[in-house]
Amino acid sequence: MNYFETEFIHYKNNQLYVEEVPAEELVKKFGTPLYVYSRNHFINQYKKFDSAFKEIDHQIFFAMKSNFNLSVIDTFVKLGSGVDVNSEGELFRALKTNVSSNKIILTGVGKTKNEIRLGLEKNVLMIKAECEEEVELINKIAGEMNQVASVALRVNPDVDAQTHPYISTGLSKNKFGIDTETAMSIYRRRNQFRNIQFTGIDMHIGSQITSIDPFLEAISKMSEMYFTLKSEKLKLKHFDIGGGIGVEYNSEKSFSIEEFASKTISLFKKLDCKILFEPGRFLTANGGILLTEVLYNKRNGNKKFIIVDSAMNDLLRPTIYQAYHHIQPVLKFENREIQTADIVGPVCETGDYFARDREISETKSGEYLAVMSAGAYAMTMASNYNARRRAPEIIIDGEQIIIARSRETFEHLLWDEKII
Ligand code: LLP
Repeated sequence: MNYFETEFIHYKNNQLYVEEVPAEELVKKFGTPLYVYSRNHFINQYKKFDSAFKEIDHQIFFAMKSNFNLSVIDTFVKLGSGVDVNSEGELFRALKTNVSSNKIILTGVGKTKNEIRLGLEKNVLMIKAECEEEVELINKIAGEMNQVASVALRVNPDVDAQTHPYISTGLSKNKFGIDTETAMSIYRRRNQFRNIQFTGIDMHIGSQITSIDPFLEAISKMSEMYFTLKSEKLKLKHFDIGGGIGVEYNSEKSFSIEEFASKTISLFKKLDCKILFEPGRFLTANGGILLTEVLYNKRNGNKKFIIVDSAMNDLLRPTIYQAYHHIQPVLKFENREIQTADIVGPVCETGDYFARDREISETKSGEYLAVMSAGAYAMTMASNYNARRRAPEIIIDGEQIIIARSRETFEHLLWDEKII
């Protein structure tokens, strides 16, 4: 079978290590299911991204929806990152880290009045508006608060990001953003919105995008808008291209950040404003694993199942996007046969699986498996279905083991619930 390894998560003497710590030691100490992150993977990815664009005036805003553990967010903040928040809850979390509020941008297709008010109260760098009614509402609320809101319009450039339909956001049939014509008309009516200053233009065309072309197409459409607005005396400060850069989960070929930079920098240089990026997955996906114990091996007719103690409530991506995550043993044993099996969890749903018809070496009950590339959209999408507690999150930094979040207790799950 194939093994998925990275600079910081790999095998040494047939044992899976996260940085300098064997995964086996972690499962013995903290139990399973268990999320483990490599801090140096996060740092490396951030530095790679940042330095690829060092020639131009830019700022990274970590998309915390990919991984909202406070220590993870703070790792990026300490490197100079801002944070892209998508809800009141994310704003609340972000503000618990060392990020200053003027390095936060507030995103979201359906912001509530309260979220807009909070964004203004906290003085976030900008609020992205996703429809005309929202622009009117921001203007009204800012007026009530005697403020001028910094707003960017999220444009829907109608570009096919060629990714899974559920994570494609830049087509006009998707709910996100404002079509280019309407956006231009809003910018042009800027004098009507006395409590808004339009400071930017924004896009986010999808996630796990593995080709640069859709970005180039969208950037060129938005650049055209930028220049037209500039000629009409609206000088925008920020050109925000969102996130979406794909990573390798298996053998798919994505582009490197250096390639991405080399194809886009000349376009950005023409704009003479600050370029904003909102990467999530690129920074976090391959810096995390989900460790799980094998409970049973079973056979239904010809079909083999490996039943593990993690489930769709811990990691939902295979269930809802048929996403591929590599699965491999924590300890490699010699002379194990390769079998084809489904790797499934204990939740009472047929969709509760991590892999179907996967080639994997035979495993025994009580051994451990690692579900790879579980640093993004993994813990943040976890739930308590079947009254399962959410897993702890451990960060490894060299030899250091940091408990970034403990396992929930059953009491946490019952918080403030009563029989009446
Ligand atoms: N900015 C905005 C406005 C976004 O909506 C997103 C992701 C990002 C940035 C970060 O995108 P990234 O660089 O991570 O691709 N749950 C799905 C992914 C949903 C992405 C939602 N938006 C998954 O597990 O694949």
